[in-house]
Amino acid sequence: MLILGIETSCDETAAAVVEGKGERIEVLSNVVSSQIEIHKKYYGVVPEVAAREHVLNILPVIDEALQKAGIAREEAAKKIGAMAVTAGPGLITSLIVGVETAKTLACVWKLPVVAVNHIEGHVCANFIAAEKMKYPAVILTVSGGHTLLALMKKAGSLKIVGDTRDDAAGEAFDKAAKLLGLGYPGGPAVSKAAAGFNGEKTVSLPRPMIDSGDFDFSFSGLKTALLYKIKKDESWADRVPEYCHEFQRAVIETLVAKTLKAAKKYGAKTMMLAGGVAANSALREEFAAAADRQGLVYKIPDLKYTTDNAAMIAAAGYLKAKKKRFVPWARLKANPNLEL
Ligand code: KG4
Ligand code: ZN
Repeated sequence: MLILGIETSCDETAAAVVEGKGERIEVLSNVVSSQIEIHKKYYGVVPEVAAREHVLNILPVIDEALQKAGIAREEAAKKIGAMAVTAGPGLITSLIVGVETAKTLACVWKLPVVAVNHIEGHVCANFIAAEKMKYPAVILTVSGGHTLLALMKKAGSLKIVGDTRDDAAGEAFDKAAKLLGLGYPGGPAVSKAAAGFNGEKTVSLPRPMIDSGDFDFSFSGLKTALLYKIKKDESWADRVPEYCHEFQRAVIETLVAKTLKAAKKYGAKTMMLAGGVAANSALREEFAAAADRQGLVYKIPDLKYTTDNAAMIAAAGYLKAKKKRFVPWARLKANPNLEL
């Protein structure tokens, strides 16, 4: 079955076609039009501007995804089995563009539609071209809006066991980058600067809630700790790589330690990583090494499916379509606070 996926929850306009056959999901096309260059000067996403860009980009992006998958526009209605669209969580002004476009196409092409939760989409990036999973799995989802630990006892069933109490991990990277005078998005900028540090460590930041006994996270204090450190350090501007390195280590050590604890508590066989922060190479390495040490299987999405894309949404859509979890197009609604 071919699924056309659409994602517009934040600042990427994305469309993809995946083919699902039994347990196997293959990507036929994956098109992402990023607005990063436009939002850079504001150090964050401006919802009004994002919405306008989505409106301008959505049809060309869908058209390109169909073309790259070898589907002529006039055959789309016949060849595609279902549409999958991100219904939330995200920015309402952005979500609504994807949702209304999916509704229009579903109505005209007479196709069934699946509403996908964006976080579920990130998790399902791990199911693309994947071998059979071993359950239970503990999943760490780290993005600009979320830091979640979830338990999956069988394919598709997600139960949250830990959440962030304030800033998400990606948001923490973005705020740290801003404090240190680096660009947006902060994650890649901090990670690049951190890679340039190989001296002896002189700065020390806290590992927030690392021993809290639960699986929740809190990163806003870490950002404040960084702010106080640089305020007291007249030469901080000369030591940005070291600050980035220590900040990144503090985030990674906390994330990995809590994931390991959750894996132990729930008897997990697999540790899974998902979300935009999963693009961080130090986190990918540390996550894999920790799972190896613990004798667990680990799953980390291919780099191109870590930050927002529609292949992950189509993959999640396929798993739902298999169970016939369709929504009549007229009832499909964008929900900025959609829960898992
Ligand atoms: O999943 P995503 O694309 O969008 C949301 O759903 O939020 O995640 C974006 C977040 C941003 O905060 C960005 O700074 C972070 O992922 N990010 C990274 C890296 N690449 C993206 N964080 C750390 N290291 C990276 N290499
Ligand atoms: Zn995302």
